Amino acid sequence: MAENKQYFSIFNSKLALIGAVIAVIGLLGTIFLSVLDHISGGKSPYLSLFSLVLSPLVFVTGMIIYGIGWIIFRKKISKTDQSPQPFAVIDFSKPAHRRGVIFFVVGGVAIIFLTLVAAYHGYHFAESVYFCGQLCHTPMKPEYTAYIDSPHAKVSCTECHVGSGTANYIKAKLNGIHQLVATVSDSYHRPIPTPVENLPMTQDSCENCHWPKKYIGELNRTFTRYLSDDDNTPVTIQMLLKVGGGDPTHGPVGGIHWHMNIANKIEFVSTDDKRQTIPWVRMTDSSGKSIEFVAGDFKFDPTKHKIKTMDCLDCHNRPAHQFMSPSDALDNSFAQSRLDAKIKGLKKTALEIFSKDYKSDSEAFSAIENTIKTTFKDLDANKQQATVEELKKIYSRNFFPEMKASWKAYPNNIGHKEWPGCFRCHDGQHKTADGKKKIESSNCNDCHIIVAQSKAGHWEPQEPKPVTFKHPDESSDGTEANCNMCHGGSL
Ligand code: HEC
Ligand code: HEC
Ligand code: HEC
Ligand code: HEC
Ligand code: HEC
Ligand code: HEC
Repeated sequence: MAENKQYFSIFNSKLALIGAVIAVIGLLGTIFLSVLDHISGGKSPYLSLFSLVLSPLVFVTGMIIYGIGWIIFRKKISKTDQSPQPFAVIDFSKPAHRRGVIFFVVGGVAIIFLTLVAAYHGYHFAESVYFCGQLCHTPMKPEYTAYIDSPHAKVSCTECHVGSGTANYIKAKLNGIHQLVATVSDSYHRPIPTPVENLPMTQDSCENCHWPKKYIGELNRTFTRYLSDDDNTPVTIQMLLKVGGGDPTHGPVGGIHWHMNIANKIEFVSTDDKRQTIPWVRMTDSSGKSIEFVAGDFKFDPTKHKIKTMDCLDCHNRPAHQFMSPSDALDNSFAQSRLDAKIKGLKKTALEIFSKDYKSDSEAFSAIENTIKTTFKDLDANKQQATVEELKKIYSRNFFPEMKASWKAYPNNIGHKEWPGCFRCHDGQHKTADGKKKIESSNCNDCHIIVAQSKAGHWEPQEPKPVTFKHPDESSDGTEANCNMCHGGSL
């Protein structure tokens, strides 16, 4: 056998040659697309997908094919040649061998380095909001749109959606493959169901940033609403929400955050897949004493019912994806003067538009355009157009006909106006077996104190007005020097 055929060269194996060509394409692709991605500021999720995941994958596939080519070649040689081939014979006195070794070492290091860089970027890319929210465009559009308009717009999807630890990461990515297949084959559910039973996140996800022991006390909230009468009459409700706290070392235990599972633990059973019906509740205090509350004639059966411990997500279930009801969305726009409350009957007309079902955005948009332009035909053309534009914006933010997603598909459990929310338990129907104790509901001041209310500008008791500061200590009016001159901390 000729000398040059005994040692491996890519020109001796078609498979290795194909592998090498694929690897080079992958490598050049990675470099070229990464530069392009970098220049474009990583704005295109598709470019990022190609440069950070697919091209390196092509490179690695090429290298694997190359390796297989090499193995097959060696097998063939050892069959034809009687004496088994040595794995490799390196003779440093031969310049060709020296060059080969240098090439091998430098090349090897470069490949390992590139693979690590690609793996690092691939990991970060798979973690990115682009990957989760934009790459699978249509199915994630509702959640993504609501997310970028939420208090958590700067928290990445994975920070909430992937539990901590490698196992959760791998589980999420495997799940992702399943989702990718569903996206490509167009077989995903519309609307995407909320995976309440196996949401990979728990209270832990929230606790990466929020501290459950925090004593929050009372939050002052003002709800500005508009009636659907001719005048779009404004109604304001100002309340102190008694959020309180649940940890005795950080404040009195009480108020809404009393259910924090610190001083008290709350467990419940729900009988529907959206957790809207809760017929059984168990409360356990720090001494271990527990009480069960049952609604109606529900019988708890441990073989049929799963007990869930209440956590943040049972109240704050829409921290990042809130789809507003037509009424609330319109109220927000009126309150921020983006819709003109002086346009007679606007809320009523807009509610009628938003309560219909549409097949697509464009169908809804033309309904908005036609209805506004015919109902308010005497209105100034600019005002008409501005109203149409704002209504389209509200529609695009809250309604997703292709995905059948809207407020109706996703209950929000934080209050009790549009969904049962707190009243799933606080409805006066949940009683102990002896009927003596029930989960309180009747007192509207248990969870919040309504401090002022107005209708069409008439306040009760009176419009909150600024008052002049009266210094609590009469010896001074507090203005003769800067406060900190006297209040050094010991005063
Ligand atoms: C602050 C935490 C948080 C962040 C950040 C977040 N989500 Fe969610 N997401 C949730 C919670 C909580 C639910 C479950 C809602 C429920 O139980 O009603 C959810 C549900 C979903 C659902 C199921 C359908 C639904 O609306 O209930 C999808 C899909 C989803 N999220 C996608 C995303 C994507 C994509 C991103 C990033 C663009 C993201 N999420 C970011 C907390 C978050
Ligand atoms: C990566 C950090 C982070 C994570 C994880 C996180 N949050 Fe937040 N959250 C924040 C920040 C920061 C704010 C304040 C945003 C602001 O005021 O603009 C906030 C605000 C809030 C608010 C007040 C909202 C409002 O309307 O002002 C609630 C309620 C809340 N988070 C609940 C949750 C829940 C429930 C989870 C778990 C599903 C969660 N957060 C996960 C960082 C986080
Ligand atoms: C029993 C229901 C309930 C549970 C359980 C609950 N919360 Fe709340 N939380 C509320 C309500 C109601 C408010 C008042 C604000 C509102 O209406 O949005 C609130 C307010 C907050 C705020 C806003 C505080 C501020 O200063 O603006 C944060 C942050 C928060 N909760 C985080 C959490 C976290 C984290 C958990 C879990 C460890 C949790 N909550 C569990 C009902 C609950
Ligand atoms: C899974 C059932 C359940 C849900 C949902 C629920 N609660 Fe409760 N809540 C309870 C139970 C049980 C008690 C204790 C009742 C008692 O001791 O009489 C309680 C007690 C309270 C208390 C009194 C705490 C104290 O100071 O003693 C407040 C305030 C409260 N809940 C507010 C809320 C608010 C606001 C919501 C909705 C955001 C809500 N709850 C949702 C079960 C629930
Ligand atoms: C179990 C606790 C609880 C009880 C009892 C309760 N509320 Fe509320 N209520 C809440 C919470 C929490 C919110 C805030 C929801 C939010 O942040 O959007 C709220 C919000 C409201 C709002 C503002 C609604 C809006 O979106 O415009 C009104 C009005 C109100 N409650 C009235 C009442 C009245 C009247 C009663 C007595 C029949 C009552 N509440 C009993 C917890 C409670
Ligand atoms: C000339 C000194 C002086 C000046 C200036 C002054 N204070 Fe005071 N302040 C007092 C004294 C003395 C008390 C009574 C302390 C006590 O009885 O414990 C007091 C009491 C108070 C209290 C109630 C008790 C406490 O310590 O919180 C408040 C609140 C207060 N001052 C706020 C202010 C503010 C705000 C300013 C600036 C606008 C101010 N003070 C300027 C001397 C002063």
